[in-house]
Amino acid sequence: MKSLIDIFDLSISELDELMNVALDIIENPIKYSEKCKGKKLATLFFEPSTRTRLSFEAAMYELGGHVLSMADAVSSSAAKGESVADTAKVISCYADIIAIRHPKEGAALVAANNASVPVINAGDGGHLHPTQTLADLMTIYRKKGSLNNLTIGFCGDLKFGRTVHSLAGAMSRYEGIKFVFISPEELKIPSFVKENFIAKNNIEYVQTTDLKSVMADLDILYMTRVQRERFFNEEDYLRLRDSYILTPPKLDTAKSDLLILHPLPRVNEISVAIDKDPRACYFEQVLNGKYMRMALILKLLEVE
Ligand code: CP
Repeated sequence: MKSLIDIFDLSISELDELMNVALDIIENPIKYSEKCKGKKLATLFFEPSTRTRLSFEAAMYELGGHVLSMADAVSSSAAKGESVADTAKVISCYADIIAIRHPKEGAALVAANNASVPVINAGDGGHLHPTQTLADLMTIYRKKGSLNNLTIGFCGDLKFGRTVHSLAGAMSRYEGIKFVFISPEELKIPSFVKENFIAKNNIEYVQTTDLKSVMADLDILYMTRVQRERFFNEEDYLRLRDSYILTPPKLDTAKSDLLILHPLPRVNEISVAIDKDPRACYFEQVLNGKYMRMALILKLLEVE
């Protein structure tokens, strides 16, 4: 039994396999419409979500399966003090696979170590979010035709942005990758990402506070929101939240084939005027996320 807690739980060839299955699902949806008949997915969300929870649920329905949904911690026995470990053991009695989001780093790993069914990390605190990475990789692959030879700019809250940590890890395994980390001083990329992923793979990178100075170099601009829920102090959030607001004039020096990505939800960091720009791909990311989650469910349930 395999779980997905960290993007490194999947090899490059397994990522390729998932993307190929997702592309086949897009072409032949009927072929997959009963693949998970009789199977149940439990979505255990101890933190708010729109995309991740509902795309997992849509994915399971489109595979012909069923969904048990826990949309918040308040309505579950977590509110009475039940541990993640016990919850995972209990839900394993009801469901064939679990997707869990939790505010504590490492909670998905605890769930996987205690469940008797596969567990998917749907976001653990400010740590990792591997299934958003699946959506991001698929979007880059479909748009660029390759995941190699790209300069990727990550902009915004790189400290708490778990999607940044997982995507930087995933991209560090491809050829010819360069990273540009654009953030306020207080929200710089954490050392665990630099040490475990970037240094290990000898990836060239620069850090800056100035988006304008690096815009022309980028093949991908991955914007992120400042993660209010991770701040201890509201004043710090208010001071930092509008550090980067992408507006059309800021793209004047950008490449014509730049990809503008964002895991969403967007707050204020991308002006809605950018949505009309053909380089804006964040709503395509949402759709790709559903297909990649379908492919992932099939893989973890070992459905042929
Ligand atoms: N990208 C993402 O994780 O969105 P949600 O928080 O809405 O699930």
